[in-house]
Amino acid sequence: MNAQPVEDATLPTLVLPRGFTWGAGTSSYQIEGAVDVDGKGPSIWDTFCKQPGHVVAGDTGDHACDHYHRYAEDFDLARQLGIDTYRFSLAWPRIMPTGTGSIEPRGLAFYDRLVDGLLERGIRPMVTLYHWDLPQALEDGGGWPERDLAYRFADYAAIAVEHLGDRVDAWSTLNEPFCSAFLGYCGGIHAPGRKEPAAALAAMHHLLLGHGLAVQALRAASQPTHELSIVLNFSQILPATQSPADLDAARRLDGIHNRVYLDAVLGGAYPDDVRADTAHVSDWSFVHEGDEQIISTPIDWLGINYYTATRVKAGADPLAPVPGIFPGLRGAEILDPQGPLTSIGWEQNPDGLRDLLLRIARAYPSTPLVVTENGSAWHDLPEADGSVNDTERLAYLVAHLRAVEEAVAGGADIRGYTAWSLLDNFEWAAGYAERFGLVYVDFATQERRIKASGAAYAELIRRQRDAAS
Ligand code: IFM
Repeated sequence: MNAQPVEDATLPTLVLPRGFTWGAGTSSYQIEGAVDVDGKGPSIWDTFCKQPGHVVAGDTGDHACDHYHRYAEDFDLARQLGIDTYRFSLAWPRIMPTGTGSIEPRGLAFYDRLVDGLLERGIRPMVTLYHWDLPQALEDGGGWPERDLAYRFADYAAIAVEHLGDRVDAWSTLNEPFCSAFLGYCGGIHAPGRKEPAAALAAMHHLLLGHGLAVQALRAASQPTHELSIVLNFSQILPATQSPADLDAARRLDGIHNRVYLDAVLGGAYPDDVRADTAHVSDWSFVHEGDEQIISTPIDWLGINYYTATRVKAGADPLAPVPGIFPGLRGAEILDPQGPLTSIGWEQNPDGLRDLLLRIARAYPSTPLVVTENGSAWHDLPEADGSVNDTERLAYLVAHLRAVEEAVAGGADIRGYTAWSLLDNFEWAAGYAERFGLVYVDFATQERRIKASGAAYAELIRRQRDAAS
């Protein structure tokens, strides 16, 4: 392994359930590159990146980590880390260039190579069907605000499982529909770059409807042992004070950030307070009879992505819209994060992870949880000898693993932890400026190098395995 050895003292021995799995994750557009080879159609991220001003330094995913060609090397690195599970996503437009109709066999063949390459190395593939790279042709037809997309997504899910279901037994429908709907259609900071709050709520609903329909399609084509899930991102919402006004601002922000997704998927209905809070931007007529039942089709576990907390207080004017990513949010002021921050400016708040896991576990005790993403961005610089001594990333990792342990001790049924990310990669609107990898990538040469945090994670996994055996 090409990283500095890690001080023993930095690594805890964690008390975790038997069978707890260790993983690392990536997503298609962030690592694959090869955006126009072998018949792949354009995605909304291909389009968005090429429009000036959207991505730092005008970066694009055109080459990214060139994983399309270097996957074998990447899986060797994953194997060196000793992970049980590798979480990755399929690019819908690689499999169906225009999102519907014709299937591109070379796209499916690429995912065959990935799945087989992982299995050969003893790593379990955990496949996400949609991590934001919508076929551009579907956006041209209106995108996620159009109900039809939910059905097209389920068709694509059926094709994917029909092809890979003999070897892949862990499927997630969507990664972070919050980001697809609200960053993409309300904040305009992610593809497709629209700023339409009403459309963003409709997009949310059609993503979730697509999730429910896809679960049904996957279930129909899967073995009983297959695990189906959705991955939601949460932020721990912290009111500035315990005043009724600040608590109410926190309730509203928590509603549109966390509960609207969580309660729809696991509780069978959108929260009444969120519908009421957003009634001035949408009448929610996009919800048809029976939709909420479809959305809450049973899953086998819920994926939790957690990075940070969000601080909020009541705004001076209760009716003043809060500009940005939360459709319909009014009368609230999002406060600056409190340090120490990661390089992307996010607050480090491991207690927030513990508290969210406990809260979700208590609200929905029959649904097991998997931490599907957690990690931190730092501006890593290799030393003269090439090593990357990312002590802050390791400290963040350990603090959040301790939070998982505390949540387990508090009764949460947590089945695994998947670090974000295996590789430094294309960090969406931040381009290549922010590095989340356990493995350093030199984007000019495509050389990879395991960072100190990656070596420590490998050592931690090894010890946890030894302790469990
Ligand atoms: O890189 C992203 C990932 O694609 C989705 N979850 C958050 C990560 C860090 O921003």
